[in-house]
Amino acid sequence: MSKKELDALEAAVEILSKDHEEVDRQFGEYKKLMDYEAPAAQRKALADKICDALSQHAEMEEQIFYPAARRYLEKDSEEIMDHADVEHATLKVLIARITSTKASDPHFDAYVHVLGEYVKHHVEEEEDEMFSELRKQGADMDEALEAMKAFKVKKKGARK
Ligand SMILES: [Fe+2]
Ligand SMILES: [Fe+2]
Ligand SMILES: [Fe+2]
Repeated sequence: MSKKELDALEAAVEILSKDHEEVDRQFGEYKKLMDYEAPAAQRKALADKICDALSQHAEMEEQIFYPAARRYLEKDSEEIMDHADVEHATLKVLIARITSTKASDPHFDAYVHVLGEYVKHHVEEEEDEMFSELRKQGADMDEALEAMKAFKVKKKGARK
């Protein structure tokens, strides 16, 4: 594998890992709000922020990173990608439930907590299995990296 290919994969992985860290930090913040029994409006605002960040991250993976990854994992480890697809679908169900539920609902905190556990599981599999398999296969993510950067810039612009 050339250095350029390696760099592109690592740079793409870094973009995803940064998102993972940020959302992990946000779930930690939510846990604190739960512990202090923070007002519903405050919990709802953070939960919506988390769901928004997760949806955007999943969109970037589904549109750009996963299809590129699949090209390299097709032969003997495509089940890694199938598994991730199914987890994304499940994550979306939980996210939709949270965004359509009032924070005064007795199960609201539990939905957010379970979403956090599920995301942690999914992220661990991406980082420990998917990314390491891509390194092993020498995946060239140069095009995906450029598309991910453009995606980030576009989303940032849309949020202003
Ligand atoms: Fe994912
Ligand atoms: Fe899993
Ligand atoms: Fe991810």
